[in-house]
Amino acid sequence: MSQHVLVTGGAGFIGSHTVVQLVNAGHQVTILDNLSNSSIIALERIKKLCTGPLDFIEGDIRNPSLLEKLFSDHDITAVIHFAGLKAVGESVEKPLEYYENNVGGTTQLLKAMQHAGVKTFIFSSSATVYGDPETLPITEDSPRSTTNPYGQTKLMCEHILEDLDQTQDGWKIILLRYFNPVGAHISGTIGESPAGTPNNLMPFVSQVASGRRDTLSVFGNDYPTKDGTGVRDYIHVEDLAEGHLAALNYLLEQPDNTLQAINLGTGKGISVLELVNAFEQASGQQIPYQISPRRSGDIATCYADATRAKSLLGWQATKTVEDMCNDTWRWQSQNPNGYDA
Ligand code: NAD
Ligand code: UD1
Repeated sequence: MSQHVLVTGGAGFIGSHTVVQLVNAGHQVTILDNLSNSSIIALERIKKLCTGPLDFIEGDIRNPSLLEKLFSDHDITAVIHFAGLKAVGESVEKPLEYYENNVGGTTQLLKAMQHAGVKTFIFSSSATVYGDPETLPITEDSPRSTTNPYGQTKLMCEHILEDLDQTQDGWKIILLRYFNPVGAHISGTIGESPAGTPNNLMPFVSQVASGRRDTLSVFGNDYPTKDGTGVRDYIHVEDLAEGHLAALNYLLEQPDNTLQAINLGTGKGISVLELVNAFEQASGQQIPYQISPRRSGDIATCYADATRAKSLLGWQATKTVEDMCNDTWRWQSQNPNGYDA
């Protein structure tokens, strides 16, 4: 059944891919994005990939009057909430900005939804809420803890949503805990466009392959892993986008007062050096690297138990590491500076 979905942060990396899939599946979509970490060029590219119309509002989730008008002007039936700040290091430098945007912004959005009687909500959470996991693979029932302000904001939002579910009628909520999103749309026209020096591995590797950066620093080779480097569960952004459609379909069939936390990952762990090798194969480029000290706050290994997504949503990741590298490389080579000219 076609829905009118408000997608906050829909011009960003994960949002853009999800919007294309939502529109092409026949849903009506309104994006709300303040373009603080995205570009109007992304929006033009998204529109080109959509087979139907797309509505865009430039604005901030922390603006209550804008939200009130948005919900009264549009017959929104569900919200997918991507908008937020996401850089761990920056969150340590500017914790108040992170709490204000991620926690304050989410609260404003939920208040406006409650007021408008729109109570179907999909939240972008993160594997960061599992902290340093005690057991692997990580199930949704694993203990939650965090090590930095960014992670705290995600965990606080999860608690806010749990309270809402416990105390208020009619909400249907899914907490999607993403593992490590990478890759790009197969067209090579939309992808991840980090501002400044990338913090995450895949964008850094792809910028080394394209010659924009000289050398990758591998943060530690003395972890208790297969080759000593950190192991993560990389998931293709197109698989992730499909996970949101599956989550929406699932929620629509649930009774009121549903809350589920669901991991979106592949269930497979890949080391830094394995990813570097796969990227060299995909790009045909050498990736020079040096072993550097461990990055503070890093954990050795993190990968999902993805069985709940399969059993509840009927969703599982299908793209391989080769797909992730090929698609990232296509995007990187066609857009060496991301969306910046
Ligand atoms: P992104 O920065 O590319 O997208 C976020 C979008 O939200 C941007 O377009 C930005 O302009 C917008 N935005 C930020 N604050 C806003 C505000 N106050 N009002 C309106 N718009 C605002 O990030 P992404 O990688 O697409 O991540 C999307 C969500 O998923 C985030 O909440 C992030 O924390 C979460 N997440 C991301 C990852 C990852 O590695 N990319 C992993 C786990 C969870
Ligand atoms: C990062 C975030 C985490 C977030 C996750 C999702 C940090 C500390 N953590 O975690 O909160 O949920 O992204 O995307 O930023 N690496 C290098 N060299 C680099 C970059 C990374 O060796 O230049 C290594 C890291 O040490 C790690 C692996 O590559 O072992 C992946 O790193 P990254 O892409 O930053 O993801 P996470 O560490 O999982």
